[in-house]
Amino acid sequence: MKYRKLGGSGLEVSEIGLGTNNFGQRLDFESSDRVISQCIDSGINLIDTSNSYGATLSEEYIGRSLVGRRDGVVLATKVSSRMAEGPNQAGNSRIHIMDQIDASLARLQTDYIDLYQIHWWDDNTPIEETLRALDDLVRDGKIRYFGCSNFSSWQVCESVWTSRSVGINSFVSVQPHYSMMERSIESELLPFCQKYDVGVLPYYPLANGFLTGKYRRGENIPEGTRLGVNDRGMFTEENFDLIEKLDSFSSKREKTVLDLAFAWLLARDEISSVIAGATSAEQVVSNAATAEFVLTKEEYNEVSSILA
Ligand SMILES: NC(=O)c1ccc[n+]([C@@H]2O[C@H](COP(=O)([O-])OP(=O)(O)OC[C@H]3O[C@@H](n4cnc5c(N)ncnc54)[C@H](OP(=O)(O)O)[C@@H]3O)[C@@H](O)[C@H]2O)c1
Repeated sequence: MKYRKLGGSGLEVSEIGLGTNNFGQRLDFESSDRVISQCIDSGINLIDTSNSYGATLSEEYIGRSLVGRRDGVVLATKVSSRMAEGPNQAGNSRIHIMDQIDASLARLQTDYIDLYQIHWWDDNTPIEETLRALDDLVRDGKIRYFGCSNFSSWQVCESVWTSRSVGINSFVSVQPHYSMMERSIESELLPFCQKYDVGVLPYYPLANGFLTGKYRRGENIPEGTRLGVNDRGMFTEENFDLIEKLDSFSSKREKTVLDLAFAWLLARDEISSVIAGATSAEQVVSNAATAEFVLTKEEYNEVSSILA
C-alpha cells in the first residue's frame, strides 16, 4: 500500500481507504468486522464513517472491531446530520458539535478522532462558530484534524479564509462526490484544493459499484448487490457504452475497470485517498490491489477523452 499526505497536513493516509455506509445497514457486525480486518491486513489505514451511518451502528461496529487494534488506524467521522427531533439535534452549531463528538467517541470506543468532518454546510450557523468549536476540540485532544464534506467551492473558501483571519486551525480535507462518472468538482473545487493544499477524499468513487464493471449490458444483474436492489438510474445504454470503452482501455493493459476507477482518481495529486465502500473481505483485497496501477499522463488524457 502507498500513502499520501492529507492535503497540507502531516497526516499520512493510504491511497485506498474504506467507506463504511454499508455497516449497520446491509452488513451486520460480523461482516463489517471481516471487512475491517482485511483492511488492516492490506495496509488500508483510513476508515471513513459518520455519526448517522446505519443509524449510528456504523460507528458502533467500527468501535467494537477496533478494540485492541485502534493504533495505526486513521479514523474519520462526521457531524451535521439530524440525530433526534427537536432543537440543537442537527447542524454545525457549537452545542451540537460538542454533544456529538462525545457520542461518537463513546460509540467508537476511543479518546480521539483523527479526522472530524462537517457533513454539510449549515445556513443557520455562522461558519466562525463552527470553526472555533472544531479548533477547541483539537486543543482538547478530542480530534486531531478537521475537514468538510459536500461544501461548494465558495463555502470551503469562506471557511479557510475565516480560519486564517482569526488565526485558528483550518480544514485539511474536503469530501465531495467524485468519480469517472461525476466530474463537476473539476471546474472550481479541485483547482481551489490544489492552490490551498486541501486534501480531497472522493465519495461514491465507484459510482455505487457501477464502475467495478460487474454490471454488463444484456447480462443478469448480480444478486444482492447495491445496484441490483436499486439501479439509481445507472443502467442506461449510454452508461453501458461508457463501461465498454473503459473496459477496452483497461483490458489492453491487463487491468479492469475497477483498477481504472481508482487509478484515474489517484492520477491527480489533490486526491489523498479513495474511500470506496466494500461489502466483503474479497472486495477489499481487489480494491487494495488496484493501487499498483498508475496511469501515465498520456493514459490519463486518453481516459479523460473517453469520458468527455
Ligand atoms: N460525505 C457524504 O455525503 C458521503 C455520501 C456517500 C458516501 N460517503 C462515503 O464514501 C464512501 C464510498 O461511497 P459508497 O460506499 O457509498 O460508494 P462506492 O464506493 O462508489 O461503491 C461501493 C460499493 O461498490 C461495490 N464494490 C466495492 N468494491 C467492489 C469490488 N472490488 N468488486 C465488486 N463490487 C465492489 C460494493 O457494493 P455491492 O457489493 O453491494 O455491490 C460497495 O458497497 C461511503 O462508504 C461513505 O463512507 C460519503
